[in-house]
Amino acid sequence: MRRALKVVGYVAAGVIALILVAAAAVYGFSEARYRRHYAVTPRAISVPTDSASIARGAHVAQTFGGCVECHGENLAGKVVFDDPPVGRVYGKNLTRGKGGVGAELTDADIVRAMEHGVARDGRPLKVMPSTDYTHLSDADVAAIVAWVRSRPPIDTAQPPVQVGPVGRALFVAGKLPMLHAERIDHARPMGMTVTPGVTVEYGRYIAAVGCQGCHGQTLAGGPIEGGAPDWPPAANLTPAGSLKTWTADGFTRFLRTGVRPNGAPVSPVMPIRETSRLTDDEIRALWLYLQTIPAAPRGVQTAAR
Ligand code: HEC
Ligand code: HEC
Repeated sequence: MRRALKVVGYVAAGVIALILVAAAAVYGFSEARYRRHYAVTPRAISVPTDSASIARGAHVAQTFGGCVECHGENLAGKVVFDDPPVGRVYGKNLTRGKGGVGAELTDADIVRAMEHGVARDGRPLKVMPSTDYTHLSDADVAAIVAWVRSRPPIDTAQPPVQVGPVGRALFVAGKLPMLHAERIDHARPMGMTVTPGVTVEYGRYIAAVGCQGCHGQTLAGGPIEGGAPDWPPAANLTPAGSLKTWTADGFTRFLRTGVRPNGAPVSPVMPIRETSRLTDDEIRALWLYLQTIPAAPRGVQTAAR
């Protein structure tokens, strides 16, 4: 009996040791990637100061750019996600107030964060969706920086992003991509212009910056990369999805109210507050563009665009 207990004791000790080794490995692997140093030099941009550019920056940041979703309407930061086993994500206070990073950030630091997903000190930013912002035009990058700069200071500090044990395990397993710096081609050529208008081209631009991050490269929807575990899959926006039965007006009403033509409300994961502020022309451009994309079954993200 005693001997049997001893064996059970050894097995239990062995299992605990294995769990500790696995936990240490997950911690070590994730930490090595969180601490990697990215020596990227953001491109030089000239930041405008005129009110039209600042208004344009505000519009992009509050609509398809989505900055306010995580950094708050006043850019003082806010909680994005808080579930200790998975992680605690707060968007930073970007203003010059106490506890904000605005006073320390240079224009180049903001561009580095947006276009490379890299912080001032060279570490990869967690969660900040910079892949989306690699599609922004030169003028819009400059306008957003101008708007960020123009915000009044607000005194409040947000806690640093922390990833819990479950979040780290998912991250190491490749199920919770959160470091956009790892996926961005930092040497890609930059310098893009786009002309706002009711055109397929401008619709494609808005979708690339504002919709593909969740609805996927092909806009066919499916599980959202880097989304919280309880998020529903994104809808299929290709002509194979339910949009084929919608009208342009129904699409507009949906983006303004979050209610589908059949009366069903959408999940709060879909950023209706931001899409409700798109202009009529922008929504028409999106609609035009969505008519041109190839049909793909929900979740199929490999078809050529
Ligand atoms: C999905 C949420 C999310 C969105 C959307 C988002 N951010 Fe962030 N951002 C974060 C988080 C979280 C951090 C802090 C990350 C960290 O410290 O690892 C951050 C950090 C930053 C930083 C600080 C970089 C530094 O050196 O400390 C800047 C600047 C920034 N974001 C600008 C923007 C701008 C401009 C936009 C819109 C174009 C934007 N963010 C959109 C989540 C977001
Ligand atoms: C943060 C993630 C996210 C972003 C960004 C996002 N969506 Fe969505 N969207 C979703 C999710 C999730 C659903 C499905 C929710 C549900 O099942 O209720 C959805 C549903 C929809 C639907 C309903 C379609 C249907 O068949 O019912 C439309 C239309 C839509 N999104 C359009 C857009 C457009 C256009 C953009 C860009 C301007 C966009 N979405 C950006 C997450 C997102």
